[in-house]
Amino acid sequence: MIEPIRPTADAVEILDQRALPERMRYIRCTRADMVVDAIQSLAVRGAPAIAVAGLYGLWVEALALAGHTNGTDELEAAKDRIRNARPTAVNLAWAVDKVWATRPGEGSALVRYLRREADALYQEESLRNERMAQFGAALLPPSSRVLTHCNTGSLATIGLGTALGVIRQAYADGRIDQVWVDETRPLLQGSRLTAWELVQDGIPATLITDSMAASLMAQGKVDAVLVGADRIAANGDTANKIGTYGLAVLAHFHHIPFYVVAPLSTIDRTLSSGNAIPIEERAAHEVREIRGQAIAPRDMPVFNPAFDVTPSSLISAIVTDTGVAQGDFETGIAKLLEQEGKG
Ligand code: MRU
Repeated sequence: MIEPIRPTADAVEILDQRALPERMRYIRCTRADMVVDAIQSLAVRGAPAIAVAGLYGLWVEALALAGHTNGTDELEAAKDRIRNARPTAVNLAWAVDKVWATRPGEGSALVRYLRREADALYQEESLRNERMAQFGAALLPPSSRVLTHCNTGSLATIGLGTALGVIRQAYADGRIDQVWVDETRPLLQGSRLTAWELVQDGIPATLITDSMAASLMAQGKVDAVLVGADRIAANGDTANKIGTYGLAVLAHFHHIPFYVVAPLSTIDRTLSSGNAIPIEERAAHEVREIRGQAIAPRDMPVFNPAFDVTPSSLISAIVTDTGVAQGDFETGIAKLLEQEGKG
């Protein structure tokens, strides 16, 4: 299994996903701001993975500041920088807030606590993925041809993945014949990362550009769409990688089931609908260039939202680690959270 995050005795090593698929290199982070930079530059990315990276960032900072005068204030400021490193995926803020709220005092007890919490989330994410994979795979009929967007695999999570975890499980169960992989402009998480993961697993997959999905669906070559999520509002509206909403509209038009796969930690019950989800806007060069190579006039104005919101009316089911919500999402989500004691 690919390890996007590798904790050591005194650092956290982050697999630099910007260099994939050409190169496997790890960035050794010994301070919070190194982790913040890795999160913001997408060296580490994907909602669950940035939460785990964020907690290790907090731990390395506490380790570095142990014994410093003003260490407590500096750690709190670093905690805020980590928490706010990316705004859309709720997992990061959720994990940091939860861990910070129950921290014990200071010093070595605090350092040990932060490491324990980071390790616990690391383990937990992996188990959550396995449960989602089982629930999600059961929704797919044998020999399905599925389409996926962005990267929701081991690189974006820890373990099997969310939507890609379902695809892995369903393939193992004989339920998948073919995976269509959207390249996912502008940063190509589909072609660079998902394609790479699927090739390593030997799962039959074909890469398409984002604009090809409509014609594939019209030709009857897609049986289901599976995507992950960065934040799900209480009514089921879902923020995910830009382009997800377009796929949901297309799936609806062609009567193809559209499944969202995400752990309960991606649900934000404080937001009643997707309108309130903050959408990250990223730098213009990400659209004007591909890996430093200009593909547009140098000063061309650019609009570059990293995510869009799919209304729950276009979603067939939300697969979580404790069960599947379908139909009335508001009630279904509330029930799943209550079962988990998070209601
Ligand atoms: O900008 P990214 O690459 O972090 O976006 C990632 C996604 O949109 C994923 O689909 C999402 O985080 C869910 S993956 C577990």
